[in-house]
Amino acid sequence: MNPAELAEHATGPREVFIEAAYLVSSILFILGLKSLTVPDKARRGMQLAALGMLVAIVGTLVNHQIVTYGWIIAGLALGSAIGWPLGVFVPMTAMPQRIAISHMFGAVAATLVGVAEFWHLGNGAAVGRAQMAALGFEVLFGALTITGSLMAFGKLQALLPSRPVTFRGQNVVSILMFGAGLGLFAWLLVDPANPAAFYAMVGLGLLFGVSLVLPIGGADMPVVISLLNSYAGLASSATGFAIGNNVLIIAGALDGASGFILSLVMSRAMNRSFANVLFGAFGTPPPPSERTASGLTVRSITPEDAAIQLAFARLVIVVPGYGMAVAQAQHQVKELAQLVEKNGGTVLYAIHPVAGRMPGHMNVLLAEADIPYDRLKEMEEINGEFKNADVALVIGANDVVNPAARTDKASPIYGMPILDVDQARQVIVLKRSMNPGFAGIENELFYAENTAMLFGDAKASLSRLVQEIKQA
Ligand code: TAP
Repeated sequence: MNPAELAEHATGPREVFIEAAYLVSSILFILGLKSLTVPDKARRGMQLAALGMLVAIVGTLVNHQIVTYGWIIAGLALGSAIGWPLGVFVPMTAMPQRIAISHMFGAVAATLVGVAEFWHLGNGAAVGRAQMAALGFEVLFGALTITGSLMAFGKLQALLPSRPVTFRGQNVVSILMFGAGLGLFAWLLVDPANPAAFYAMVGLGLLFGVSLVLPIGGADMPVVISLLNSYAGLASSATGFAIGNNVLIIAGALDGASGFILSLVMSRAMNRSFANVLFGAFGTPPPPSERTASGLTVRSITPEDAAIQLAFARLVIVVPGYGMAVAQAQHQVKELAQLVEKNGGTVLYAIHPVAGRMPGHMNVLLAEADIPYDRLKEMEEINGEFKNADVALVIGANDVVNPAARTDKASPIYGMPILDVDQARQVIVLKRSMNPGFAGIENELFYAENTAMLFGDAKASLSRLVQEIKQA
């Protein structure tokens, strides 16, 4: 195409339609993100974002540069064959690893576009320096996100050891690897027509992704996934610059920034610094906690006795955790709360920022059961209320109420802010056994004098409590 034809294409009706579609989809992405900040509008947020993606795809499909639709239809069929079952059959509890694998696919796409563009432009011969900057960023961060996300998936799916996998001198090897990748990037900026340096940089990016994530423990994977999400977003944004696509630039920047902010928020909730999450396993691991529960006794409670305490309570604070999500007990929680309120009591919900397995997990489940949003209280807001609570009802939560976070320096969760349930007059814990939670550690709360355990599946226990309160 000669320059005159190119100019005509750039301003023709087709181009105007494409840019308008990209503008509409970018607005829909921003509105979607905004709605996601309010739990009862989160579903609408997802729908807006999905609509934005559809508009962006339609805009892209009319691009005059498309040579054949055959490969696009094949990709659509393959993507739907993978994406549809992922969306329908993967349970809520496996969401973190599902998100990790989705990031991997996104990063594969960004990296392949970068490699194809480099190859298409005469293996770098026709690549300018500015374009090389975008392409290099895209493939380096894309490649490390591919293998990093794959390692995170493996750890969360228990295909790889969840513990930090380390070896002597690992930090030196990792830093050298990343430094070499950056060195090749710098070289390519000076001399873009250097395929050996380009493909070596992609290879180093892939290796660095493995060495970045393997030494991080499974408990820190949510932060890692969120950080990799931001890398994938930045790689997509760079792709946008490299191929001149506005919606990729905007969507990638939104993805990159929101992933980064989420990682910061999660690290803060666990009282960890970024450096500690990413490089914590590099140093000497702390000695294992010597605390055990031997000699301590557990008091269990019958549903009848628990129901009486709840029926006459003035203030009940519900503390939901991962077990509530597993049992899908949110509707029974609401039924129980309505009975307590009918008897004149107040029910509040204490939401720990990392309760469950993904950010906002508890908020979404409770919103699904139509629990009024103003009853959901953030940790800082509710902690002062526990001393006034007659009953703290812990439903499948464990690590987020573990006092070891305050007192046991050798504990892996030491320093993580927790919900102060132990200050309530009575604590009733609903769980199936004495098994630990995500961090794999004992919880002395379960042995405290004011704690009683109601063993069983949370949904079944709550249904039983509802029956008992109705009869009380
Ligand atoms: P956990 O500490 O994981 O404890 C959940 C408890 O639920 C378990 O001890 C389990 O005990 C119980 N449980 C499981 N199924 C149950 C069922 N059907 N009925 C009743 N109880 C059931 O949960 P948490 O307190 O919510 O803490 C979250 C943990 O996950 C933290 O360590 C956090 O760092 C980590 N994490 C958080 C995120 C985010 S971003 N939210 C993501 C990944 C990991 P039984 O087996 O005895 O029933």
